[in-house]
Amino acid sequence: MEQDINITITDREGVTHKIQAPTDMAMNLMEVVRAFELAEEGTIGVCGGMAMCASCQCYVTSSTKLPKCKTMKKRCFQRLFMLKRIHG
Ligand code: FES
Repeated sequence: MEQDINITITDREGVTHKIQAPTDMAMNLMEVVRAFELAEEGTIGVCGGMAMCASCQCYVTSSTKLPKCKTMKKRCFQRLFMLKRIHG
């Protein structure tokens, strides 16, 4: 469809998945991964996206400019970037 976007997702086992994700359903990346069953059930989105478990942690390597984050998500991302620096 015209609203779909192409996303390449590398899962936790290092397997690459090229998918076309819809943009007309207001899905976040966690929901896309779950919808395409790219992670084992119960291993991603454990808290349903409430910013409590970090099971939806991902790294975006695209150079595409993203819209600014809301404050809560921004704080969560800042923590994740800090973790990435610490743990590589
Ligand atoms: S699903 Fe729990 S923080 Fe994202």
